[in-house]
Amino acid sequence: MRGLKGKIAIVTGGLGGLGYATARRLAEEGCKVAIFDLPRDGRDMAAAIGCAYYRVDIRSPGQVKRACGAVKSRLGPVDVLVNCAAIFVCKSYDATPQDWHKILEVNVIGTSLVTKYAVGQMKPRRRGSIINFSSISGFVGQPEFATYNSTKFAIRGLTKCWAQDLGPYNIRVNCICPAYIQTRPAGKLSKKRLEDLRRIEARHLLNRKGRPEEVAGAVAFLASEDSTFITGSDLLVDGGYLAK
Ligand SMILES: NC(=O)c1ccc[n+]([C@@H]2O[C@H](COP(=O)([O-])OP(=O)(O)OC[C@H]3O[C@@H](n4cnc5c(N)ncnc54)[C@H](O)[C@@H]3O)[C@@H](O)[C@H]2O)c1
Repeated sequence: MRGLKGKIAIVTGGLGGLGYATARRLAEEGCKVAIFDLPRDGRDMAAAIGCAYYRVDIRSPGQVKRACGAVKSRLGPVDVLVNCAAIFVCKSYDATPQDWHKILEVNVIGTSLVTKYAVGQMKPRRRGSIINFSSISGFVGQPEFATYNSTKFAIRGLTKCWAQDLGPYNIRVNCICPAYIQTRPAGKLSKKRLEDLRRIEARHLLNRKGRPEEVAGAVAFLASEDSTFITGSDLLVDGGYLAK
């Protein structure tokens, strides 16, 4: 992909299933990648794919500000921000205020905080690409998923608003919207689990779940100079899930 060599990228949640595949792909494309995530011992895992590691809780304004400053001093000002970190609180109409605070603090407010400090480095240079992780869950309702899905709808809304605010600075903001991605080995499955898996697979036109590297490739495209006229958009990486 064009224009990624030497770019500075931050990937939040970069030790998780999709974040790790994304950080790896961006590093392979020649980006200098900084992973923000929670584990104390993340350094070796990040180093294994040629990335730097910062232990950052994206809910903390102080930690986010310090880490973004440290990336700038160590690697240079950020060009690409991938907002991948999220948690999964899956509750329906009976969600408690604590459930709501917990998920909104990470998926919406945390995402917004990292964006604020990354944009501070992009704006003066009038360039940047921000890729937010939404989901098919940001398009449709799913049973018992109201809390999670509403944050993924919110991410699509933030994307469109930020694209308006940042377009004048040549900063593009887009959403990546995966369907079901197999992020961990399935292991040995019981008959019931196997039936559930087949049912999920059959909801995709390609009759299978996606692979993390298939999502990572789409993120790299949105980060690259092959997508310079794309902003405010939702890129479905869903094997045709929503086309039915
Ligand atoms: N896996 C899927 O099938 C799928 C489908 C659609 C969308 N998504 C989206 O993709 C993204 C990644 O999902 P995943 O399956 O890789 O999940 P995951 O749980 O494997 O990874 C999430 C990562 O975010 C990190 N994180 C959580 N809270 C954090 C915080 N406060 N500060 C910093 N890091 C924090 C976690 O430690 C973890 O490494 C999410 O935004 C999710 O909504 C996933």
